[in-house]
Amino acid sequence: MDLHNGQLGARELFQAQSHIYKHAFSFANSMSLNCAVQLGIPDIIHNHKKPISLPDLVSSLQLPPSKINALHRLMSLLTHLGFFATTKLDPNHGDQEGYVLTPSSRLLIKSELPNLSPVFQMVADPVLLAPLQFFGDWLRGNEETAFETAHGVGIWEFCDKNPKFNNLFNEGMASDSRMMSLVIRDCEAVFGGLNSLVDVGGGTGIFAQIISEAFPSMKCTVFDLPHVVKNLPEGKNLNYVGGDMFQSFPSADAIFFKCVLHNWSDEDCVKILKICREAIPSKEGGKVIIIDIVVDRNRDEHDITEAKLVSDIFMMLLAAGRERSEKEWEKIFLEAGFSLYKITPIFGLRSLIEVYP
Ligand SMILES: C[S@@+](CC[C@H](N)C(=O)[O-])C[C@H]1O[C@@H](n2cnc3c(N)ncnc32)[C@H](O)[C@@H]1O
Repeated sequence: MDLHNGQLGARELFQAQSHIYKHAFSFANSMSLNCAVQLGIPDIIHNHKKPISLPDLVSSLQLPPSKINALHRLMSLLTHLGFFATTKLDPNHGDQEGYVLTPSSRLLIKSELPNLSPVFQMVADPVLLAPLQFFGDWLRGNEETAFETAHGVGIWEFCDKNPKFNNLFNEGMASDSRMMSLVIRDCEAVFGGLNSLVDVGGGTGIFAQIISEAFPSMKCTVFDLPHVVKNLPEGKNLNYVGGDMFQSFPSADAIFFKCVLHNWSDEDCVKILKICREAIPSKEGGKVIIIDIVVDRNRDEHDITEAKLVSDIFMMLLAAGRERSEKEWEKIFLEAGFSLYKITPIFGLRSLIEVYP
């Protein structure tokens, strides 16, 4: 068959078909991992304390014996994807293999910290899946986000009106923030010396809790929408304030944003950063601290760039936000009246950005 002026042979076309199918069906990777998290497979393997055989896994999960083959196939995919590994059981079992955890599935053990399994409950919830199904409709329409096309209101208003999803969302974000405890002690140069910090869009305050414990002389304030921070217990050097960051927020030596500015357009970020400029001292160490993605296609590995670009799509569909390159960050910092910034890529996909007046 002579396709595309005879430029492509059958081999290339079958390769192209494989490429299409890989991506057409790859949402099954995400949903298979979600299934393993729902069933608590990482917890069972962790509690078993040695490699677990397939029959033992079936019985721990209390699955009907007829599902052994289905579970084997689920575990084969997840092992191929690097979420589990196999190793010899023990000398009494000959060559038989059992499953063990990998660093990725260690982060999905519900009884340990940090535990990222709530991120799955958030991302796999139909509320967050629906906007993806409205992608095309949204592109043709006038709503600001696909979330609005799917649900009729923006995400923050939806959270306010739906306590169940609000909890799911806040728990997902909180579990992500708990990862910060792994590196906070290495961040003395960033946070040491600050007398006060306001975590704007700080959710239920996990990051602020971690930092208030690591730096007990720092006064920490979590600022978020009233429905997020109401009734949260305050600590010795930790308090909560409800409000709208587009109006104003409390002053401090440092204003902190984790996974917040990527929810907003450049124009909105400049508005928020201008309020920061008023809220921090112009001299003597006043700064804005941001934890967010910096897209760097030239330096990042292919998989990392892919994860960042996928996150960019999510930000666009859910909240009219975006992931930014260094140049794009620099533009909004300068427009908001800041003159200096420093990027430290220390949190995997995300970087720490310090911005100075
Ligand atoms: C993606 S979450 C990040 C939460 C937290 N910083 C974290 O990383 O775990 C964005 C946060 O911004 C808050 N937010 C949205 N609009 C806001 C507004 N106008 N004023 C204050 N907070 C807002 C949301 O309620 C939510 O908690």
